[in-house]
Amino acid sequence: ETVDWDPKDTGKGGYDHYMLKEINEQPTALGRSVSGRTDSAGSTVDLDGFPAGEFEGVDRVHLVAMGTSYHAAMYTEALLARRGVPARAFMSSEYASSPPPAEDGTLVIAISQSGETADTIAAVRAARAERTLVVTNVVGSSLTRECDDALLVRAGPEIGVAATKSFSSQVATLSLLSERIRRDVVGTPSPDAEAFLSALTRLPDQVRQVVESPAAEEIADAFTDSEAYFFIGRGPGHAVALEGALKFKEITYEHAEGFTAAELKHGPLALVTEDTPVFAVFNGGSDDTETLGNVKEIRARGGPVIAVASGDTPDLEGIADHVLSVPSTHPELVGVLANVQLQLVAYHAARRRGRSIDKPRNLAKSVTV
Ligand code: G6P
Repeated sequence: ETVDWDPKDTGKGGYDHYMLKEINEQPTALGRSVSGRTDSAGSTVDLDGFPAGEFEGVDRVHLVAMGTSYHAAMYTEALLARRGVPARAFMSSEYASSPPPAEDGTLVIAISQSGETADTIAAVRAARAERTLVVTNVVGSSLTRECDDALLVRAGPEIGVAATKSFSSQVATLSLLSERIRRDVVGTPSPDAEAFLSALTRLPDQVRQVVESPAAEEIADAFTDSEAYFFIGRGPGHAVALEGALKFKEITYEHAEGFTAAELKHGPLALVTEDTPVFAVFNGGSDDTETLGNVKEIRARGGPVIAVASGDTPDLEGIADHVLSVPSTHPELVGVLANVQLQLVAYHAARRRGRSIDKPRNLAKSVTV
């Protein structure tokens, strides 16, 4: 498979920063990730090079990645688990230093925007697996040579050190791959496959609505002087909470941390004061009630709460201090939209602080050593 880029894609195209340009490119990037791979009725999964039956015999999936790609791995772990496919996300570095024992039926999926991350290459080399597959944005990258197979995310070139559009495109591509694996392993589509896949085709337009909204900038302006910034969520929302915190710390240089919503009362709640805003990611599904309970625990300690939620999450009125709303979609995909809101919050917070947004101190786009 080849992907053609327009040379004008690599300029800043009128934006002040590559990061903002790339955030705004997400509707197009996501459209490319999904188009031709499923249909608006949500009946097909058509991944080039991965026909039906391709994953028969897979008993478990190990996902290896670092940084933002690791958060896409965590997201995918939740998607696969819900589809009855045993899956675990590992940081590549940990996987490389203590690879799980060899077992028949292990599929290793490496996730890497650049395809060049040294830790992830090391993980693939250390893997005792029958088969390795990389999900990457870069055709011909090292990991495409190291792995048995490659699946492209088609996000287009990403210049900003902080990964944005590549995450959305990774999750979209891995959503399709998860459904393909489920069908081959379990023998049937997942119970709500049509709703899930058709929601995927609507995601680009919904991301456009999010990037056009001024709400994230208003939130960034409302919290400029806080001691620390926390992010919580569960399931896919946990992956998004960690990614929201990573983006925020990378480019604002403020202390930001992500937790599972349930983890708070086992320690981090000790840090919560009126100077620690907490971003709570809701999935718009049955687990919202529990997250709402966690939000009440935060409010009881005076912590300001910014809920990131769709209209499918009830009862936020009077409980959250602010709501960053996103369009309603399948509960497994709300996280993609919530993540775009958090990218925008991080961007505007960093901009207000005059940070070097596209090249944050001490960080590199791709860590190849
Ligand atoms: C670096 C970058 C991150 C990126 C990570 C993994 O730390 O600064 O933005 O998420 O590497 O990169 P990869 O290319 O493997 O996705």
